[in-house]
Amino acid sequence: MAAAQTSSVGGKTRVAILISGRGSNMASLIAAAEAPDYPAEILLVASNRPEAPGLTYAAERGIPTRALDHRAYSSREAFDAALNAELEAAGIDLVCLAGFMRIFTAGFVETWAGRMINIHPSLLPLFKGVHTHEQALAAGVRLHGCTVHYVVPELDAGPIIAQGAVPVRPGDDSDALAARILVQEHRLYPQALALVAGGKARLDGARVVFSEEVPEVEGALLSL
Ligand code: GAR
Repeated sequence: MAAAQTSSVGGKTRVAILISGRGSNMASLIAAAEAPDYPAEILLVASNRPEAPGLTYAAERGIPTRALDHRAYSSREAFDAALNAELEAAGIDLVCLAGFMRIFTAGFVETWAGRMINIHPSLLPLFKGVHTHEQALAAGVRLHGCTVHYVVPELDAGPIIAQGAVPVRPGDDSDALAARILVQEHRLYPQALALVAGGKARLDGARVVFSEEVPEVEGALLSL
């Protein structure tokens, strides 16, 4: 599978972020990409939900936005084709899913194989799908967390780039756990994107290959 291509303009990887709602992970990526030495630039934010608050946030920061209401398309294929056309028109190298709550066709995933990553709120391969914090509490795990991974056709099953862990504390409910993990998501995703966009992590078959020693991240339970 192809590794993410970097654009010739400024040597930065051209990134689109796909969202469905709040967009707090998107905001963390936008903030990271403002650093001059960050290896990615955010050139497009798109949502399948026109009312997504994250679209407004991105537009206010001068980032081009697109709302593609999935209800306006006759099929999953038609929606994915329209989205793909937007990504191609913007010259996108790498797609970041950030709370994008819609399943792609296998064809779309194949088109972007090795060039599309996602953040998921659990320590994969545990707790795929939705309601991950409820799943973790029901299972009684003492550690929970978040994962950045390449997207493959099977849901939440792609090769893992980075993970962050948090403790599950006595008395936690799903809201408390979600809030604790979101803090780690906002730290992890920009660092994982930097690895991919900077060519330090790439997909090689079913595994992620790291080109050099991956730095430890500050914080006892968070590691890349
Ligand atoms: C995040 O917790 C993200 O990990 C999760 O949705 C939330 C989006 O929040 N994603 C998934 O569950 C994907 N399966 P945000 O819009 O504030 O970034």
